[in-house]
Amino acid sequence: MTTVSHTRIAIVTGAAGGIGAGIVRKFTEQGVAVVGTGRDGEKLEALRRMLGDNVEFSFISADITANDAPAAIVNYTLAKHGRVDYLVNNAGSGQWAPVHATPDSMLDDVIAISMRAPFRLCREVIPHMGKGAAICTIGSTFGIRGGLDGGAYCMVKSGLTGLTQTIAAQYGEQGIRANVVAPTVVRTSMTEAAWNDPSFQRVNQGLTPFYRDCEVDDVANAVVFLCSDKGEFINGQVIAVDGGWSTTKVVNSRFRPHD
Ligand SMILES: NC(=O)c1ccc[n+]([C@@H]2O[C@H](COP(=O)([O-])OP(=O)(O)OC[C@H]3O[C@@H](n4cnc5c(N)ncnc54)[C@H](OP(=O)(O)O)[C@@H]3O)[C@@H](O)[C@H]2O)c1
Repeated sequence: MTTVSHTRIAIVTGAAGGIGAGIVRKFTEQGVAVVGTGRDGEKLEALRRMLGDNVEFSFISADITANDAPAAIVNYTLAKHGRVDYLVNNAGSGQWAPVHATPDSMLDDVIAISMRAPFRLCREVIPHMGKGAAICTIGSTFGIRGGLDGGAYCMVKSGLTGLTQTIAAQYGEQGIRANVVAPTVVRTSMTEAAWNDPSFQRVNQGLTPFYRDCEVDDVANAVVFLCSDKGEFINGQVIAVDGGWSTTKVVNSRFRPHD
């Protein structure tokens, strides 16, 4: 028989990725027990070892696009903890191409990983959530503003806003909230190639009024805050974590000397 935990329980998808691992770390630092998911069990096991024995982290490996994945993830969590308080839809595809050069295979993949899977996981988990529960989905500043070559990526990231707002409208009365955290570019395996291009860094930094790069912890702090009771009245919002990139038009002095 499952014992219902009194600790808060979070599901984090893409848990062993760059941003996912940061979110897991912040949650566990706050005493939240986390169930992580991803395809690569070895990476998840390495994360578990890195977190150590003093935190509650377990994982289930699954391809999030598989039809049975949402039920498997939620059932695993309920069997282990007896409840689920937070869902963080973080797993995503970074496939990136202009619209005219996006093959169907890429389009279908991006939609399956970054939009269909979060929708299906929300659908699975909401019936098990109650007052104080929260869903946080990782969007992107490229879901707020278009980006060159963004194609399917920009489309699905803005689509997650619609999902979030409709969940906020429908389930707010039950005390279940939903928000999007939309980071600017963060250095992870998804963006490694771009980061190694000096012109990319120069443009990105030059267009960011608050004068530094976005770190994984900036994103993780926003997620943990929005899920916590401190974010209790924030519902249906898209919170950009971008130093002002998406709301300003600025070319700062970091850019100018190289013009
Ligand atoms: N890095 C950025 O600049 C940036 C900016 C804005 C938004 N984001 C968003 O932040 C989220 C995390 O990205 P990241 O930068 O941390 O990239 P990352 O390090 O490449 O992590 C991506 C994660 O998604 C998981 N994943 C991908 N496809 C999956 C599938 N089919 N089934 C299950 N898991 C899958 C991967 O796990 P496995 O490899 O184990 O399958 C991995 O843990 C994404 O939604 C991304 O769009 C990133």
